[in-house]
Amino acid sequence: MKRILVTGGAGFIGSNFVQYILKEKQDIELLVNLDLLTYAGNLENLLPVQDDKRYVFAHGDIRDRAFVNELFDKYDFDTVVHFAAESHVDRSIVEPELFLTTNIIGTQTLLDAAKSHWKLDPDNKYSREYAEGVKYLQVSTDEVYGALGKEGMFTETTPISPNSPYSASKASADMVVRAYHVTYGMPVNITRCSNNYGPYQFPEKLIPLMLHNAKEDKSLPVYGDGMQIRDWLHVHDHCAAIRTVLEKGVVGEVYNIGGNNERANIEIVSLILDVLGKPTSLIKHVQDRPGHDRRYAIDNTKITTQLGWAPEYTFKRGMQETIEWYLENTQWVEHVISGDYLDYYAKMYSEG
Ligand code: NAD
Ligand code: TYD
Repeated sequence: MKRILVTGGAGFIGSNFVQYILKEKQDIELLVNLDLLTYAGNLENLLPVQDDKRYVFAHGDIRDRAFVNELFDKYDFDTVVHFAAESHVDRSIVEPELFLTTNIIGTQTLLDAAKSHWKLDPDNKYSREYAEGVKYLQVSTDEVYGALGKEGMFTETTPISPNSPYSASKASADMVVRAYHVTYGMPVNITRCSNNYGPYQFPEKLIPLMLHNAKEDKSLPVYGDGMQIRDWLHVHDHCAAIRTVLEKGVVGEVYNIGGNNERANIEIVSLILDVLGKPTSLIKHVQDRPGHDRRYAIDNTKITTQLGWAPEYTFKRGMQETIEWYLENTQWVEHVISGDYLDYYAKMYSEG
């Protein structure tokens, strides 16, 4: 892992990963961040690394074959960590096609560029050995498994059963990654993580949205009864898990990532109100999301026992630091909640 292509490094998890990996691994020679800078991408997330000589920003689209091939030719990557995606379930319900092209075709474009640059060929008997020093990591999600009832957890062998256009596009991309591994010997790993929280998350997602609204004394739009359960992991722990899989993951394997931290949405919202000293009367139950998954829970046995990863953050510490971060970084929040965000918010929550 010396010459890394990170896609979507200007988004929430990608920017945390770029900062994390450049700090943790001084032997990295070069890290190129390929990002289209959609509404979700923000170069301000990368201010801490912008003067790092190893860091290069490439503005472009993962679906642009010529551009992606050019980057491979120019920088000779040995590692790809693919975060770039349309990532918001609510937006996928409104605009599914964008999710399918970005998340599926974008993935295939990257795989093709890696395949050609790493000279992978089913008829080339050296292809698999040559592929030893390189790796493609697909950052996927627990949402590909669908929804759980009250009992049970997602393991890596749980059938794929996505319920939203977003999770369907991520599941399809996973299938393409698997096929490139089996057919062309592409050295891949797929990681499926639960819901992340932490700094630099776009304030359309639950935790930063509720924090922002509570701070401004605006109503907190809870979908349905608010009893939907998510399994929350601090983004730092996700980044550390990805590093572990890059370094120790067995080629071709899928690893679930989660911290055994299930919370109902209403519990998260109440916690935020409590910490900010705001009244529960700000909670407003609004119309539920269509096809809303009731519960997610990750069984992390494989990555913890086989690769030795474990989360470092307790939820208490993670939430405390996250709330402090959003309260301290008001300028960041003000910059991201302009333009597209305001239009989206007005459309989504006007009738709720
Ligand atoms: P995000 O929406 O914050 O960031 C996505 C980034 O991708 C943005 O910087 C955006 O500009 C970029 N991008 C979008 N389309 C692009 C394109 N066509 N070409 C190049 N760049 C493009 O997303 P996130 O929350 O950081 O999620 C990152 C990845 O992790 C996604 O693949 C997502 O499915 C996965 N994931 C997210 C979570 C979570 O809780 N947020 C949990 C598990 C997995
Ligand atoms: P979100 O952050 O969009 O992540 P995901 O849908 O990928 O899990 O939502 C997390 C949970 O919070 C989900 O159950 C939907 C719920 N939610 C609300 O109740 N109100 C909101 O305004 C938002 C954005 C989410």
